[in-house]
Amino acid sequence: MSNYHIKNLEEYFQVYRKSVREPENFWAEIAEEHFTWRKKWDNVLSWDFTKPEVKWFENAKLNITENCIDRHLLTRGEKTAIIWEPNDSNDEAQHITYNQLHKKVNKFANVLKSKGIQKGDRVCIYLPMIPELAYAVLACARIGAIHSVVFAGFSSKALATRTLDADCKMLITSDGSYRGAKTLNLKNIVDEALEDCPDVSSVLVVKRTGEEIEMKEGRDEWLEPLMEEASDECAPEIVDAEDPLFILYTSGSTGKPKGMLHTTAGYMVYTAFTFKNIFNYTEGDVYWCTADIGWITGHSYIVYGPLANGATTVMFEGVPSYPDHGRFWQIVEKHKITQFYTAPTAIRALAKRNIEFVENHDLSSLKVLGSVGEPINEEAWHWFNDNIGKNQSPIVDTWWQTETGGIMISPMPYVTPTKPTYATLPMPGIQPSLMDDDGKEIKGNQVNGRLCVKFPWPSIARTVWGNHERYKDTYFSTFEGKYFTGDGAMRDEVGYYRITGRTDDVIIVSGHNLGTAPIEDAINEHPAVAESAVVGFPHEVKGKALYAFVILKESGESRKRDNLRKEINQQIADKVGPIAKPDKIQFVEGLPKTRSGKIMRRILRKIASNDTSDLGDTSTLLNPEVVEAIIAEAL
Ligand code: WTA
Repeated sequence: MSNYHIKNLEEYFQVYRKSVREPENFWAEIAEEHFTWRKKWDNVLSWDFTKPEVKWFENAKLNITENCIDRHLLTRGEKTAIIWEPNDSNDEAQHITYNQLHKKVNKFANVLKSKGIQKGDRVCIYLPMIPELAYAVLACARIGAIHSVVFAGFSSKALATRTLDADCKMLITSDGSYRGAKTLNLKNIVDEALEDCPDVSSVLVVKRTGEEIEMKEGRDEWLEPLMEEASDECAPEIVDAEDPLFILYTSGSTGKPKGMLHTTAGYMVYTAFTFKNIFNYTEGDVYWCTADIGWITGHSYIVYGPLANGATTVMFEGVPSYPDHGRFWQIVEKHKITQFYTAPTAIRALAKRNIEFVENHDLSSLKVLGSVGEPINEEAWHWFNDNIGKNQSPIVDTWWQTETGGIMISPMPYVTPTKPTYATLPMPGIQPSLMDDDGKEIKGNQVNGRLCVKFPWPSIARTVWGNHERYKDTYFSTFEGKYFTGDGAMRDEVGYYRITGRTDDVIIVSGHNLGTAPIEDAINEHPAVAESAVVGFPHEVKGKALYAFVILKESGESRKRDNLRKEINQQIADKVGPIAKPDKIQFVEGLPKTRSGKIMRRILRKIASNDTSDLGDTSTLLNPEVVEAIIAEAL
């Protein structure tokens, strides 16, 4: 894409207005100007949220890897496309140029073909954050196969469910993976998963750890020799704009995970456009998103968005705590990172550590900071802003979802004045609306409601793989004619949005609607508190009452528990209102979290309700062991 950015707030409003008045012209101009098409579209958009059906750039022909790789070769062939930073800080980073990426992806694509993979086939990718993960994703896209990346921290059971659901023919994995001081044998997990997946006829194995593994005759092969033999030329498969690009699973509030299906052209246009404007990407920048490619953030803002812009994108194999809690900052200094995009949970974890871990490093290359995945609390926002950004780098608090494909509400750096805990304004083309419980749109400002989107944007997921009814039920049935996000939000006096959390986390106490995020915010602001989670439990008089689970920074604080409870209550009363004071405050050592760092409130709600007979599937938790401890001390 060209280097042009939206420059100031006035221009943002102009662009935004145009995107709402003439959405088709707006997106057609962007699509036309910034991408390579083999054939232009016949129709920019057709949609019907009642079916629901959305089609962008109908009948256009393209290949996304041609846009992410080939077209850069003439001008940026020797530019670094991917910097790979290994787990061990003593090992050397790899700088993979666009020319090298082109060859690797072509070779990998030829390997896939030689194993019989064709356009439309599903390929499961279960790899750690090594370059082969990016090659594998792009190789699938090169030949029109549909990738389904499963985060390589998931259990064999979770992997099997996803592989079966997408009916994958092939699985790509590695012998093992490094995460900090730990080594994980991935291939064993795959072998166990595949006992339940007879239709996977081919497994490609990348050598990473040198672990002893079993290779199943006729099914498993090492990738490396195949790559060596394969030709580095592979003409891209030209696909239709609406042909599927990938499936990515996201957990629902009930039932099995939903395989969100994303298609090609709209996803490409939207992720590239948002990447450029939200990260203020300029030629020469070195952009780092700390997510794993196993999540949507990695798909859109490590791989596709940055590469479509010809950017340099960093892939980090390890964890923020290894070899010590300064690793992130050491990497920022080493690669002179200009944009740093991470999650509140990581910020909070690092903020607990000695500030010297930060101060030992030169972070002056940074110009934009980003946050994603959950509401960022005020304390974490300020810590990030003061200590990492040194008050010089705007924080983009980006709200979006696996289902939305790209960032929906976010400040644009140097354009939108930021406000702590506010995702601020919708991106051009995004038309949010807040709905009340009777299904009416809430107009005006200084209001609270359920967050919907009333007009399609190019990267909206098109369906739930194999279950269009579920897609319709989950997203389009709560509010007629609107996409319902499942989140609650408030709109302040100037029209800024603040995401208040999942609406399933909205708790009605004595008839008052309370978002959990602001209450947790208030608790977390207490200097003794590291993290907290608030859930509701049934109460005779109030309907629902609040139960707070609180992690203290130092367990030594526990001597003064009763005093702390009083202070926390006072803090909540001050910040949110006396109505938001929890009935119960339990001090805990840890909170049950998903692998992506989200608190599993479902479990906490059960504990709070004293209903622990059936906690559901806890196998995908990062730390299943904390659950027992919390139950043992429940109030
Ligand atoms: C939450 C991650 C507040 C939200 C890209 C959403 C956020 C869910 C933010 C999607 C944010 C994500 N502020 N909440 N900036 N970003 N969320 O599918 O509840 O893993 O619905 O996509 O995360 O999570 P997902």
